[in-house]
Amino acid sequence: MVVSVHHLAADAGLEMLKAGGNAVDAAVATGFALAVVHPIAGNLGGGGFLLLRTHDGHATFLDFREQAPLAATADMYLDAQGKVLPEDNLQSSLTGYRAIATPGSVAGLTYAEKKYGKLGLAAAMAPAIKLAEKGFVLSAEEAEELHDPGLTRFADSKRIFQRDGKFYAAGEVLRQPELARTLQRIAADPSDFYHGKLAAELVAELEKGGGLITLEDLARYRVVEREPLTGKFHNYTVISAPPPSSGGVVLLSTLNILAPYDLAKLGDRSPASIHLITEAYRRAYMDRSEYMGDPDYNHIPAAEMTSTRYADAWRASITDQATPSARLHRPEGFLPAAPTSAGKRRESPDTTHFSIVDAEGNAVAMTTTLNNDYGSGVTAGSLGFLLNDEMDDFAAKMNTPNFYGLIQGPADAIAPLKRPLSAMTPTLVLEGGLVDGKLRFVLGSPGGGRIISTVANIFLSAAEGGLNIQQAVDAPRFHHQYLPDTLYLEPGFSGKTIKQLQALGYVVDLKDGYWSNGECIAIDPKSGELLGGQDHRSHYGKAAGY
Ligand code: DON
Repeated sequence: MVVSVHHLAADAGLEMLKAGGNAVDAAVATGFALAVVHPIAGNLGGGGFLLLRTHDGHATFLDFREQAPLAATADMYLDAQGKVLPEDNLQSSLTGYRAIATPGSVAGLTYAEKKYGKLGLAAAMAPAIKLAEKGFVLSAEEAEELHDPGLTRFADSKRIFQRDGKFYAAGEVLRQPELARTLQRIAADPSDFYHGKLAAELVAELEKGGGLITLEDLARYRVVEREPLTGKFHNYTVISAPPPSSGGVVLLSTLNILAPYDLAKLGDRSPASIHLITEAYRRAYMDRSEYMGDPDYNHIPAAEMTSTRYADAWRASITDQATPSARLHRPEGFLPAAPTSAGKRRESPDTTHFSIVDAEGNAVAMTTTLNNDYGSGVTAGSLGFLLNDEMDDFAAKMNTPNFYGLIQGPADAIAPLKRPLSAMTPTLVLEGGLVDGKLRFVLGSPGGGRIISTVANIFLSAAEGGLNIQQAVDAPRFHHQYLPDTLYLEPGFSGKTIKQLQALGYVVDLKDGYWSNGECIAIDPKSGELLGGQDHRSHYGKAAGY
């Protein structure tokens, strides 16, 4: 089964599974297809994380996060007065050429195929090449998305995605012959993108607009294979994203804080359970903001942050009322002092998620991103693909919120070749132990800083709240990230629940509508049947199985 936000990308993965490919072949096919049919987030010019667990119990994490160009500096997004440049400024971390970090997706997907795939790159890229060449029919929602003003600002983006102002309508076909050609070149020689003629063409395109990425940046890019983060929750083993994602640390510390409570008895989304989960989020996100960044630059005390003793100490500060974030004090004697500088490289080494399980039981959870919608808005000229604005995931200024309202500290300060802190949380959950446990859930979502609470919401509803995976994915979400001290609620909570939460002291915000997009799989413990949870918040996704 492949569950993805785009039906054609899910079908591309399914085609691999039917042809005898494994979950990694399917992930590579889905990943490249998303770069064609879901340009708002799918990408060649972005980065991501792929979490794999093979049926025999081996788990690994591929980090192909973007990294800061060699020419990046800590204060590059501040004006003369030291203020962060706003989004509409072409020198900012969110828009245009200077927002672009060295892309990792092509390295990540081709590395995954070579090391863990069965069918080979040509086979895994064939569906994407076909979709780019022949085109695909746009739905009303996709045609509407392509009106994005961020694309209009850049000539090649406007030409390709907006037909120079003659916007695409629902039912029309979007063909991308230039992208097809780039994909063919990658399929023929994957090293071309970082070391060859393709690299030179990309750099030349980006230089035209004042981008910072050089041939050396591309040549020095590496996929980092990391050990996933693991923890226990009741009889489950949770395998998730290590730094430079904050996802696994925040998810596991949230679950550790919650473990002794009887959430099942309190009831899914009852005010009492929302209260406890929110207080756990508040504490775990506080630690995120002060401690987390690229582990190759600063020591991130992930093991201490996810220890049960530390969670016990955090839990002791939870009362039957909301704790104002301003009055929250971290338990003493557990964590070392937080980093105070960007650190030095230590020699050791809109977003979309999809979930895959193959016939053997190999599982992939992969989340990939350009950062916000259509990334920087910049298309790499006739190469036909969009570039990220991942530089905004760094702390452009200490204690100043980024696009997602997240506050990050010195550990996430900009430095050359450093990877920005992410919240992407591809997660696998087993019943039982790490090696001999049975796969129960494949989880993940986009949503910026809300990704982690989305994954926690879905997992807790399915594991504790008695919801099936489709219900858990669809259920209204709630989110708290320490600062701002606000409990965000999606539409769908009753007036009574909202009033009870306000009475506990929460400042409730109902204005954000819907967020995130869970694309998940559950495995029935008795029958082994795969159950797809494809989020109702998107209207062109699919759980594709056979
Ligand atoms: O890596 C991160 O945490 C962000 N760049 C993810 C952005 C995202 O999820 C946007 N989609 N809604």
